[in-house]
Amino acid sequence: MPWITHSVDETIALGRWIGELARTGQAIGLDGDLGAGKTQLVRGMAQGAGVADLSLVCSPTYVLLNIYPADPARPASKTLYHLDAYRVHGAADFAAVGFDELLDQNALVVLEWASRVPELLPADCLRLAADIVDSCSRRWTARAAGKNSQELLARLGEACAFMGEKT
Ligand SMILES: Nc1ncnc2c1ncn2[C@@H]1O[C@H](COP(=O)(O)OP(=O)(O)O)[C@@H](O)[C@H]1O
Ligand SMILES: [Mg+2]
Repeated sequence: MPWITHSVDETIALGRWIGELARTGQAIGLDGDLGAGKTQLVRGMAQGAGVADLSLVCSPTYVLLNIYPADPARPASKTLYHLDAYRVHGAADFAAVGFDELLDQNALVVLEWASRVPELLPADCLRLAADIVDSCSRRWTARAAGKNSQELLARLGEACAFMGEKT
């Protein structure tokens, strides 16, 4: 099932589906080398979630957490919490941020470099790993643990079938 995106725009489109289809309380863990496209995918998720101000989306490498609030004018929009574990030493570094509390805030919680802090992730979590295929193509492999994430992945599979691996 891996999805291939052939441009930043396609990665953003994939992220948009995730942001739209994910329900609040969903945790999403991202992995992939520097420059793989994790932050671009989050940009799309923020669009799909309908956050109020897309210009806020940037890499939270130095601040651990960025918050993109839902749009008060759009009841269906969702707040997105964007975290990054690139520079942390372990899950304890996120204690001040209160990762578990974020999951209870009726928001989406997205963590880059998730595999660096596996103990932080809840049992129900969607994981996406990005591989750099070439300068403009990325391969996204997804796996879901837990009922909500499995259902999300099934909905995503239907929505994004057109992004299937092309030969
Ligand atoms: N298909 C693609 N999807 C996402 N980014 C791409 C793609 N092709 C090229 N790129 C480039 O790769 C880089 C991805 O950066 P970024 O999203 O910050 O990566 P990460 O957060 O994984 O370190 C950007 O410079 C972007 O222009
Ligand atoms: Mg990034």
